[in-house]
Amino acid sequence: MSATDAAVWHQVVAASMAHDLPGVPAPGPGQIHAQLTKPALGSRRLTWLATGADGVTVGVAGLRLFASPGRDHLAEAELHVDPAHRSRGTGSLLLSAVVEACRTENRRSLIVAAAADSPGEAFSKRWGFRPALTLDHLILRLDEMNEADLLRTANAEHPGYRLTGWTGTVPDGLADAFAAAKDAMNDMPVGDLDYGNVAWDADRVRAMGKVIADRGDALLTIAAVHDDGTMAGYTEILLPQGSAARAQQYDTAVVPAHRGHGLGLWVKAAMVRRLRAEHPCAVEIETDNADDNVHMLAVNHRLGFRSYRRTREFQLDLPTT
Ligand SMILES: CC(C)(COP(=O)(O)OP(=O)(O)OC[C@H]1O[C@@H](n2cnc3c(N)ncnc32)[C@H](O)[C@@H]1OP(=O)(O)O)[C@@H](O)C(=O)NCCC(=O)NCCS
Repeated sequence: MSATDAAVWHQVVAASMAHDLPGVPAPGPGQIHAQLTKPALGSRRLTWLATGADGVTVGVAGLRLFASPGRDHLAEAELHVDPAHRSRGTGSLLLSAVVEACRTENRRSLIVAAAADSPGEAFSKRWGFRPALTLDHLILRLDEMNEADLLRTANAEHPGYRLTGWTGTVPDGLADAFAAAKDAMNDMPVGDLDYGNVAWDADRVRAMGKVIADRGDALLTIAAVHDDGTMAGYTEILLPQGSAARAQQYDTAVVPAHRGHGLGLWVKAAMVRRLRAEHPCAVEIETDNADDNVHMLAVNHRLGFRSYRRTREFQLDLPTT
């Protein structure tokens, strides 16, 4: 995709988000350019631009086709129509192209996300998608936290475990342990989505680090390591290039044998402490959790995260050959 098309894409997404998600910062032009032009992990992307008779782009659609074994039945679409050009069939035109590509690629499941109770939700239902998962989006304002409480939680002793952390790609000595811990994310509640599972190994965690670095984003990780060398849990924060004020929560996982000991809260509190010390430009963290993920929501509420919006994921089930 050319730099011009990526800039136009950004304009449509920014206008669409300002309309449907007021107050939610849209990705910056650099972020969109990187998303559209740099390789993703275990997937490739198809894109469409819908243009009016005057040559102006009024809508965009992207389709992520997963390639890893265990997820190669799945595709995820993103669709935006400029609010000034809606209800004229552009969204439907774009979605037809997306669905056609899913058939060509023999995909069984197509997922889209839309703000709860938004035009996107009505559109998805009209097209025969079924609601499969509701996500609660939460925000933690770093300047509103109780400092003493945070430090008490982050500095707590957890006998048998120690904390470690890194920036970017995992250090070689921890790569296998980290890959094993990443498999715990396959337990994440995904509602009725046909989400599949991916198996992690050291090469895949290194590839993930490279993809994020090539996009220009920074990935911070804090992990709890057991005395026997097992990585018991970890949490990841992404600082997007150009807009690091709102940090994005990536994974948080505690492996099943180590659950129930407060390790999830511990690694997340230690991450907040680190963010505040090393990245003062970060003012808040956004995360999203399945609305039935009671344990993760409890940890996040305990840290001070507050719910502020909801999205729904919809799935279209497609015939395959
Ligand atoms: C969802 C979106 C892409 C629809 O684009 P659009 O060009 O307006 O869509 P269409 O004109 O093809 O609408 C098709 C059907 O969707 C439904 N629909 C679309 N917008 C609607 C709204 N505001 N209220 C109720 N139904 C709506 C209608 O059934 C419509 O059919 P009709 O015009 O025959 O009644 C657009 O609203 C958008 O960009 N939303 C924000 C991004 C988003 O939520 N994307 C994810 C959804 S897949």
